[in-house]
Amino acid sequence: MEIAIIGTGYVGLVSGAIFSNVGHNVVCIDLDLAKIASLNNGKTDIYEPGLQEKIQSALLAKTLTFSTEISAASKADAIIIAVGTPENLNGNADLTFIYKALDDVAKIIKKNALIVIKSTVPPGTCTQIARYLKTKELQNDVVMNPEFLREGSAINDFSNPQRIVIGCSCENAADRMRQIYTSWQQVTFLVTDTSTAEMIKYASNTFLATKIAFINQMADICNHISADVEMLSYGLGLDSRIGSQCLKVGPGFGGACFPKDIKALITFSKEQQIDAGILEAALSANQKRKFTMLNKIKHLLGAPLSGKTIGVLGLAFKANTDDVRYSPAIEIIKLMLAEGGNIAAFDPKAIESAKKVLPNICYTQNAEDVFKNADCVVVLTEWHEFTLLNFQALLKITNNPLIIDLRNILDPAKLKGYWHHRL
Ligand code: UGA
Repeated sequence: MEIAIIGTGYVGLVSGAIFSNVGHNVVCIDLDLAKIASLNNGKTDIYEPGLQEKIQSALLAKTLTFSTEISAASKADAIIIAVGTPENLNGNADLTFIYKALDDVAKIIKKNALIVIKSTVPPGTCTQIARYLKTKELQNDVVMNPEFLREGSAINDFSNPQRIVIGCSCENAADRMRQIYTSWQQVTFLVTDTSTAEMIKYASNTFLATKIAFINQMADICNHISADVEMLSYGLGLDSRIGSQCLKVGPGFGGACFPKDIKALITFSKEQQIDAGILEAALSANQKRKFTMLNKIKHLLGAPLSGKTIGVLGLAFKANTDDVRYSPAIEIIKLMLAEGGNIAAFDPKAIESAKKVLPNICYTQNAEDVFKNADCVVVLTEWHEFTLLNFQALLKITNNPLIIDLRNILDPAKLKGYWHHRL
């Protein structure tokens, strides 16, 4: 099929890279000239394992092209909209980019082409979009096809999804979506109405975020009574009704999705006068989490932070990405800076993105340098390479051999003899 994708963020780019590797002809469209020029040379501006290779192979096979011109979508059988829906001032999802894309698409779209919404949009949006298109005298089917990929494992998640959700209002649209996903024969294909598909996406993200907020609260209770939260998490996850995923304790959930989506669903519910108390509690617990982490650091280090040097391992909102949006690491560093702490930080991939939001801290060349003269070292992102460091040697070059592992990734056996704190 001929597919056009509007928006080259994580979702648009990964969708384009995979669809063009399984037999479709894909054009990815974005207004950002520099980004498109570099994508045409096979280079991505984000760090996502395996993505660049997929793009390069499709460019070579000539099944993938990039363009800044909406006219490049004029032959498409399906136009996938994968633009951002950031948080607006009220906490709602801002649909400006969606409607801008629709206005552009309306000028060139083929009569029978599908419009596929892959961006996360509040329930009811696709119905409104269909109405909006009718005002432009367009009868194209609008399909909601939410995406569940995670940053850091996006290629694998997109290639091996646990379900494909299609929200549409006619069987013909569902059939055309089956053609797009013809290479995903073994995957459960769930066809529903558009509002339910929109809700499946929000409910998935907010449920997982709530699960994380829950386990983090359990960690605080465990800590109080010296119980082992890792064993608790394992024991909980063995119950298949609960499941083991999203039960990893940490400094709170971050990233471009969970915080934004939970706020958007709370705001949506409030506007409809529906109680969303569970979501409000999860969001509030997550917002308090960074202060709990700060207080833990201050308590262990001996407050105040003023004049102390804190070595930080990890800036990204999670491992295997260079994304620092809503990163708990960045938020906790800002709190430590506000208390007068000096920061020396390292991240294997996220230093350049962190510099844009934290220009005035010291970034080290490697993880080892974070330890030099530090009054404590805090692990904020769960990069595997941090677990391989030679702590016995490194803690000797600190001012004070204290390591605070806010991701519970370090092996206590390797830290014997030093002051090591876990969640
Ligand atoms: C999340 C969802 O997992 C995806 O299914 C969804 O497609 C995506 O949002 C989206 O809506 O686009 P992502 O934000 O990339 O994916 O990352 P996750 O791996 O879900 O992690 C989110 C946050 O929760 C991170 O800060 C991570 O460190 C934290 N987390 C995750 C935990 O603290 N504990 C866990 O057990 C899992």
